[in-house]
Amino acid sequence: MNAPIWTLKHDVRPDDPQMGLAARLLRDGETVAFPTETVYGLGADARSDEAVAKIFEAKGRPSDNPLIVHIADKSQVEELAARLQPMEERLMDRFWPGPLTLVLPLKEQSVSRLVTAGLSTLAIRMPDHPLALTLIRASGCPLAAPSANRSGRPSPTTAAHVAEDLAGRIGGIVDGGPTGVGLESTVIEVRDRVIHLLRPGGVTIEQLREAEPGAEIRIAHGTDEPSAPRSPGMKYAHYAPKGELYVVRSSGTNRMAAWIAEEARARPESAIGVLTIDEHVQDFDSSACEVISLGSLSAPDQIARRLYAALREFDERGIDLIYAESLPETGIGQAVMNRLSKAAGHRRIELD
Ligand code: TXA
Ligand code: MG
Repeated sequence: MNAPIWTLKHDVRPDDPQMGLAARLLRDGETVAFPTETVYGLGADARSDEAVAKIFEAKGRPSDNPLIVHIADKSQVEELAARLQPMEERLMDRFWPGPLTLVLPLKEQSVSRLVTAGLSTLAIRMPDHPLALTLIRASGCPLAAPSANRSGRPSPTTAAHVAEDLAGRIGGIVDGGPTGVGLESTVIEVRDRVIHLLRPGGVTIEQLREAEPGAEIRIAHGTDEPSAPRSPGMKYAHYAPKGELYVVRSSGTNRMAAWIAEEARARPESAIGVLTIDEHVQDFDSSACEVISLGSLSAPDQIARRLYAALREFDERGIDLIYAESLPETGIGQAVMNRLSKAAGHRRIELD
């Protein structure tokens, strides 16, 4: 059976009947997808083993990849975390509600062990989306919620993406329209007054630096750096379209365009896609390949917002090979390139 989709306005009243249905499903231990400011999440009562197991089941997610718990009020942190350091409190005050996830020492027994995959830490965030906040409050549950995609697929930025991946596997979908940031939250862990950046995301490293000018920020590089605390999710393939994706770094777009034209000639059996930006879209031959622009470099937020939908769009157009232009890694660009390079399974092409 297909999941019901409730299309709700952002200023919906907490006692709206459809919101009530969604909240009741969550209280009854079912899964409900909902919009956040980053991407759609697949929520379930974080305290219930049975409910959380349904998230892993629906997504096909490996059980050793822990989930983020979503709250609507700062007071809920006390129920979930064993301790808070002053820097963590400051960061919450500065960025919540918003796309910052903090990995905190777990208060034993506060959530299902499935949420933390047995770790002694718990990832928590307060999403900046009125529907998410209303749903969390109406359900009365802290909500464990990973992105609402099948494991390994690009994260969903619309309710249609959620339905594409999960219809028939979940209890329902709250549709609040396209999400704003388009990429997941930044995940950090503070240890010995050092901020470990476990996953770049909606809050940029520049914003973290500005908020904590005295703090050292260390970027965790997954398995490359065994001493850094790692986000277990980093070891899995992620965000991938069906076509084979490559990130292309070149001395200039003309060089890249010429190389792709050659590729198109050499592989007439393959449908080729190019992911680029408005400034360069003209440089590619759109009769030889499907060209998608993420937007202008002067509006990097828009580039982030469109990334996942673009990857899904290549799938829809039946593209076999996708060449994505490498973009500057400043600001939100760091998260964009992080996701692109993971979606590409770290495959890169360097052209001089
Ligand atoms: O923006 C977001 O964060 C979205 C929306 C739905 O809130 N959620 C999201 O969840 O991206 P998910 O499950 O796709 O990614 C959670 C990330 C994973 O990389 C996971 O390994 C990491 O957070 N994580 C969760 N708990 C952790 C922990 N205790 N220690 C370190 N990393 C943790
Ligand atoms: Mg995810």
